[in-house]
Amino acid sequence: MTTTLYTGIGELVTNDPSQGDGSPLGVVSGGAVVVDGDRIAWVGESRYAPDADAQCDFGGASVIPGFVDSHAHLVFAGERSAEFAARMSGQPYAAGGIATTVAATRAADDATLNRGLARLTAELVRGGVTTFETKSGYGLTVADEARALRLAAEFTPETTFLGAHVVPAEYADDRAGYVDLVIGPMLDACSPLARWIDVFCDRGAFDVDETRTILLAGMAAGLLPRLHAGQLEQGAGIQLAVELGAASVDHCTYASDEDVEALAAAADTTVATLLPGAEFSTRARWPDARRFIDAGATVALATDCNPGSSFTSSMSFCIAVAVRDMRFTPAQALWSATAGGAAALRRDDVGVLAPGRRADFVALDAPSYVHLAYRPGVPLVREVYRGGVEQARLDS
Ligand code: NIG
Ligand code: FE
Repeated sequence: MTTTLYTGIGELVTNDPSQGDGSPLGVVSGGAVVVDGDRIAWVGESRYAPDADAQCDFGGASVIPGFVDSHAHLVFAGERSAEFAARMSGQPYAAGGIATTVAATRAADDATLNRGLARLTAELVRGGVTTFETKSGYGLTVADEARALRLAAEFTPETTFLGAHVVPAEYADDRAGYVDLVIGPMLDACSPLARWIDVFCDRGAFDVDETRTILLAGMAAGLLPRLHAGQLEQGAGIQLAVELGAASVDHCTYASDEDVEALAAAADTTVATLLPGAEFSTRARWPDARRFIDAGATVALATDCNPGSSFTSSMSFCIAVAVRDMRFTPAQALWSATAGGAAALRRDDVGVLAPGRRADFVALDAPSYVHLAYRPGVPLVREVYRGGVEQARLDS
């Protein structure tokens, strides 16, 4: 195995507090990284760097861990720009729009869904994402949900069964029948294809009793729980996620003080994942990240990339909005988009640049990671390494 020494890093964010400035980001100035195969072998100041077989100079760029996008819905066909335009003219967002994408997805052939997944994966990676999760949830039949997960597994190991996204039209008069389908034949077909189970627990989707039934069935089938809750209204979903030991509860837009307290008490188990793209694209109220962070909750940031409520694949955009409108500091936003996302996926091999971790890192065309929020909308991601292999380069 050849080793490579990466030097010329103006500012190196490691997310390892034992490094550099000792902050949660573990920022090393004049840092260097040695990569051995797909793993990191050494991290520190370049003047102490060991010899390596090859060398690469980043010319003063800042380097950060690859983004970990812990929440996306990438298996779908069609698009809903008309719905977005209507919202921007005053229409509210409602869970019902999901039905439009369900119809388009069911009608699409595998090649079409695969092309969409490939395109969005390429976008994510070009934007600096080196680990991402994706959900089913636009099929809502046994065959269509299983197909979505089978296709998704070609792109990521972090696959989530979201048969309980909404009740499809054909079950509108038989909600209980749909829940039985989800926890019966659909779960049987999907559990071997997924790592996670998720439910959209909110107004217009599933109530907390239905959610509990579905998550417990998924857990009994060997899936790990995560949850959509508190996007459209305050409810008992966040407390349920904590009670069941979910890895993450996502959106949390309408979290109550009790919800925040529960998340803080469960900081080692359940991550609060905030999704700025959803508030941005639905013109919803902004959750205040300070409430969660100051209370001691573990917070992640993710794209929620989907054709309805958040059609962005850009973690840089999410960081900028999170800093500006959710009151994250730039340092907290970067941590949440990397180490926070890794915690939300219960991954200890990514999100941190330290010996033994995956060599997933991004060189920015900027002297500091702060530029991700300071220069919103500017493509600062210059080079993306995944498992030590360069994936994308934006030549300037
Ligand atoms: O996370 N909240 C539920 N699901 C998606 C939206 C899906 C859609 O509108 O198509 C979300 O925002
Ligand atoms: Fe979502």
